[in-house]
Amino acid sequence: MRFAVFGNPIAHSLSPLIHEHFASQVGLNLTYERILVDRPFATMVTDFFEAGGNGCNVTVPCKLEAFALATRLSDNAQAAGAVNTLKRDDDGSISGFNTDGPGLVRDLQRLHLLKDKARVLILGAGGAAQGIVRPLLEAGVAHITMVNRQVTKAANIAAHFPSKVEAQSYQSLNESLAAKLSHDHQAVSFDLIINATSSSLLHVLPPIEALIVQQAGAVYDLMYTPQGETIFTRFARDLGVGKTADGIGMLIAQAALSFEIWTGKRPDIAKTIAYLQAYLQERH
Ligand code: ATR
Repeated sequence: MRFAVFGNPIAHSLSPLIHEHFASQVGLNLTYERILVDRPFATMVTDFFEAGGNGCNVTVPCKLEAFALATRLSDNAQAAGAVNTLKRDDDGSISGFNTDGPGLVRDLQRLHLLKDKARVLILGAGGAAQGIVRPLLEAGVAHITMVNRQVTKAANIAAHFPSKVEAQSYQSLNESLAAKLSHDHQAVSFDLIINATSSSLLHVLPPIEALIVQQAGAVYDLMYTPQGETIFTRFARDLGVGKTADGIGMLIAQAALSFEIWTGKRPDIAKTIAYLQAYLQERH
């Protein structure tokens, strides 16, 4: 079977390593290549499928074009407005899926970070944040507060989930919650805080009050590092938050869901996480 990941840049994608590891686990023979998108995306993908490709992953900046290209869309792809997985169907048409949000949910469940009826704070309202809202609600999250510097972006997402998702500015969240928490030291701010901003990539902290982070049940960052810790999860751990995780498990889980869509086989995520962490640490 023949697979690939399309994006630009693409040289540093870990997807080939991950999928080759999955394949070795379940005894499948496959090739998985990195393809740099330096021509129109639709042409390149169509050529790939016509040359015998079975499926592909799509990463930045092509997820919206993949959405437009797919003949059929999964519910998650439809809701996220973006596609990270394409599959060539038996009749030659192309189906689009989005496994990013479901991958996060699967990883949170693996780590036991998703309490039933949880109250979740999402930092950020970009593409990554948008794709995780619906899967979190479907997994039993009771309420989501979404905070963003440009608050209208958060409000636009929240408008799709009335009474379930609320948009706030950092300032309003910081002022209202910090005042409450400073009076009630036992209060939990949120069961889970998810950093879905790109701030950890820039190695800066999002402008959220330390007290809110300190009183959280758990903290998760969608970014990952060779050390297994981002600037934000480190900040939370230093404040005494007991449960923190970076996004390596989400990376592997979203890949595993793509792999399942293409092959019908379910690899062991934990084994591939251990393999990839060892690889990243060695390379670091
Ligand atoms: P992605 O696909 O990773 O979501 P994106 O769509 O460009 O990337 O979104 C980046 C997100 O990170 C946005 O929510 C952005 O906030 P604004 O919309 O207000 O710009 C957020 N972000 C980036 N740097 C940040 C920082 N230093 N502090 C807080 N939020 C930050």
